[in-house]
Amino acid sequence: MFLKNCWYVAAQASELGRELTQRWITGEPVVLFRSEAGKPVALEDRCPHRSASLSKGTLIGDAVQCGYHGMTFDCAGSCVRIPGQEQIPAAMKARSYPVVQKWHWVWIWMGDPAKADEALIPDLRYNDTPGWTVTGGVLKVQANYQLLTDNLLDLTHETFVHTKTIGNAAVAETPMESNVEGNEVHVQRVMRNTPPPPLFKRVRNLTGNIDRWQIIRFQPPSSVSIDARGFPTGTEDAEQGLRWFSINSITPIDERSSNYYWTITRCFALDDQEITDLVHKQILATFLEDKEVLEAQQRLIETDDRKKIEVSVKADFGSIHARRVVQRLIAQENQGSAA
Ligand code: FES
Ligand SMILES: [Fe+2]
Repeated sequence: MFLKNCWYVAAQASELGRELTQRWITGEPVVLFRSEAGKPVALEDRCPHRSASLSKGTLIGDAVQCGYHGMTFDCAGSCVRIPGQEQIPAAMKARSYPVVQKWHWVWIWMGDPAKADEALIPDLRYNDTPGWTVTGGVLKVQANYQLLTDNLLDLTHETFVHTKTIGNAAVAETPMESNVEGNEVHVQRVMRNTPPPPLFKRVRNLTGNIDRWQIIRFQPPSSVSIDARGFPTGTEDAEQGLRWFSINSITPIDERSSNYYWTITRCFALDDQEITDLVHKQILATFLEDKEVLEAQQRLIETDDRKKIEVSVKADFGSIHARRVVQRLIAQENQGSAA
């Protein structure tokens, strides 16, 4: 069961062009493309005639011609041509979804189009702020989207999973502070006078100890941004240290798989392509380590049907509360549609 009246990332802005692209989102097939004017468009990827995938058809101007019997649909999903027939049945319509390009990504509203409010797009402004430079990608993970948000809300795992890049003993040993503000969950960990993790050393040539911050912000349904800072102890000096946001938005493909959209956006060495490449490669390797853990978790949850209860600890505050927020929003949405 997914929240539908909300925005999910449908694609990176750079991925969308004049080709028809299929993505499954919250269990629904969607075809994405850009209009001739460059506007992103999303239609249900199912021809209303006989359920052929529209994404296997042809984009002609701003209309999609189904590859099976040639019926053609405009950007709003209205049928504009039926070969060999003048009259177009009113029901011959493909569903269209609201889409908006913002913060480096293209967002889609999977619920009631009348409720689509751009102000509800998660605030991920550091993906698109002057003075910050972005690198990122998308990763398919065979796991439920909430296993991914859990992972990002408890960075204790860095100590054990990411020893080669961003993890060291200090992370797991330092307690977190957490709180819930409306629909957002905030978690932060401040590590004073600790050794820098391997990737921080490589990126900023840090030799001595650092003060390190991880300030995590969850915005429903599934965006987690992490303000990560590592400055030489006592300095708070971004010039000598490191500051970046790890920005993550998880889109459910279905109950057991997800598209993991990620960026690292930093405010130092802006034009240094070598640093961009290093950060990209190392962070991707880090997320592939997460992928391995998460996919094994998903397999176990699916195959072990004894329904054993999981035992929580203090560090789970963020993930437990983020799940509660989503659960509450889903319950509200269901009440609204029942009423
Ligand atoms: S299935 Fe698309 S035109 Fe027949
Ligand atoms: Fe991780």
